[in-house]
Amino acid sequence: MKKVHLIEHPLIVHKLTMLRDKHTQSKDFREIVREMSLLMAYEVTKDFPLKEIEIETPLATTRQKVMSEKNVVIVPILRAGLGMVDGFLSIMPNAKTGHIGLYRDPKTHLPVEYYKKLPMDVLDREVILVDPMLATGVSIVAALNKLKEAGCKDIKLVVILACTEGLEAIHKVHPDVEIYCAGIDEVLNENKYIVPGLGDAGDRLFGTK
Ligand code: URA
Repeated sequence: MKKVHLIEHPLIVHKLTMLRDKHTQSKDFREIVREMSLLMAYEVTKDFPLKEIEIETPLATTRQKVMSEKNVVIVPILRAGLGMVDGFLSIMPNAKTGHIGLYRDPKTHLPVEYYKKLPMDVLDREVILVDPMLATGVSIVAALNKLKEAGCKDIKLVVILACTEGLEAIHKVHPDVEIYCAGIDEVLNENKYIVPGLGDAGDRLFGTK
């Protein structure tokens, strides 16, 4: 089973508290999600390979390290995952973006795919699946199933807030997927919202109800 990376940097902890606060309005909520995603991208890219190149400083020719081209695709789960894309792209401007849209069937309660678009070369890329909330894990497990059906092997999952039940659900079905999060809450309420949580991430990002 892959490790869960709980990112406890003070900047991230501070920003998560601001997200949790119900008085934080959409504009600030969006900005904080973007900033947290950017900061989390540092942790996610920690194992990315470096290679040596030759450069000239104003004083000498020298061999120094740069990141070797690791091809990445950011895949947000629609719609709340969209809030995390810009933060990742701001430090990985050459990454491509795929999209997976899922809704929950009101009768079966099972996730149904309504949209999927991945880059043609997705199999040559590391996938970073993003969604702010890992609650029951049902839709994230479904998104991971879709990615694996498409042939993706190298997948990381980045969420802002997870709960224990969701983490266990992912581990059970996708033990190979490394998970990054900024907080872990214990409880889901009867509507499957994380408690204390931060509410409905999609509604708070986009100002809907
Ligand atoms: N999705 C959300 O947006 N919030 C939760 O608490 C759980 C799932």
